[in-house]
Amino acid sequence: MPEKILIVDDDLDTLKLVGMMLQRRGYSIVAAINGTQALSKAASDRPDLILLDVMMPDLDGFEVARRLRADPVFASVPILMFTAKAQVDDKVQGFEAGADDYLPKPTHPAELLAHVKALLGRSRPAAPSGGTKRSRVTAFIGAKGGLGTTTIAVNVAVGMAAKRQDVILCELRPGQGIAGFLLGISRPSGLSALLQKPREELDPRTIEKELVTHSSGARVLLGSAEPHDYVLLKDAERVEALVRRLATMCNHLILDCGSGFSAATLRVLAVADQVLILVEPLRYTVLMARALMADMEATGIARNKIDFLLANRERSSLQLARSKIEEMIGKPAIVTITPAPELAFQSAESGVPIVVRDPNALISDQLRQLTDRLIAKGAE
Ligand SMILES: Nc1ncnc2c1ncn2[C@@H]1O[C@H](COP(=O)(O)OP(=O)(O)OP(=O)(O)O)[C@@H](O)[C@H]1O
Ligand SMILES: [Mg+2]
Repeated sequence: MPEKILIVDDDLDTLKLVGMMLQRRGYSIVAAINGTQALSKAASDRPDLILLDVMMPDLDGFEVARRLRADPVFASVPILMFTAKAQVDDKVQGFEAGADDYLPKPTHPAELLAHVKALLGRSRPAAPSGGTKRSRVTAFIGAKGGLGTTTIAVNVAVGMAAKRQDVILCELRPGQGIAGFLLGISRPSGLSALLQKPREELDPRTIEKELVTHSSGARVLLGSAEPHDYVLLKDAERVEALVRRLATMCNHLILDCGSGFSAATLRVLAVADQVLILVEPLRYTVLMARALMADMEATGIARNKIDFLLANRERSSLQLARSKIEEMIGKPAIVTITPAPELAFQSAESGVPIVVRDPNALISDQLRQLTDRLIAKGAE
């Protein structure tokens, strides 16, 4: 498929001339004659590159670039500013607005073409099997269901974003998504949409379109709440491909793997740098955690990648002591999360994560401790 270039210019002659030149070189062209049209055509045509004039009657090029960059869908689409305004100040303003490159008018067609090629070359996604992992991947998994895995994953992602970390949370629970509720986001179908695409289409740009940016700055890929979507986990290779791709798109990838040990989980845990198992202070859950760890090791996941955290949802004196649990598992717990049923309830009802809703609560402190630890690991 030819690469698509959106040319934005209020001067029809330039539009025609540049459009024809690029078309002859095999690019597909979309044109817009003002800023407003540029934004709507960008949204409808999803160009691979935007050639943007600065001086236009309605929205100028700077404003168009700023608005495009504010939308995660266009966060990484190359923008080449092409304009008669070529003073240093204009250039600086252009780069600040989000442009990747700047060319003064008039330009020799060969020079314009060289810039276009360079920008497209840089932004082109690598082959689906390749792509370099640049994030630290942390996978949360419950020794059993309902221990608070999603709650913790959500709060860690939000806490990381609050510390200006580039984080993506992926809720690997198609059909059983609740992170959207916890985050107050009402469009939780991104994961299902991606898991229905052929593997070779899972490139960063396609994935980016399904990510939602939470007000904290965390980008999230949410599982739907449509039970029939659960089957989408069946294609373990596709799930792994998606996770590997996500790992090229951020610095911290947080995975909510739910509980249980499916083929998809197995593949995903193998990609993770650290696996965090949630355990509650009950004998059978501790035994399940121990068995889960043994299973993981048997499948080749190194023991030093696996840690556990003690998540306690019940206020009860009838529970195993932390030291006993650590002895049974053979490792220290990296953090203890205390019961906070009222806060957990209010947070879920309001769609405001615990660490945001009540930053002074003890549980927020514990969640931040965990977050800081994971950030520090990422910086190692
Ligand atoms: N520290 C806590 N104290 C008390 N209640 C909590 C705590 N953490 C989470 N909860 C509550 O426990 C319930 C389960 O939480 P959550 O959905 O995060 O668990 P989960 O392990 O992801 O569940 P599932 O296995 O269904 O995916 C929710 O009602 C949540 O509000
Ligand atoms: Mg969950």
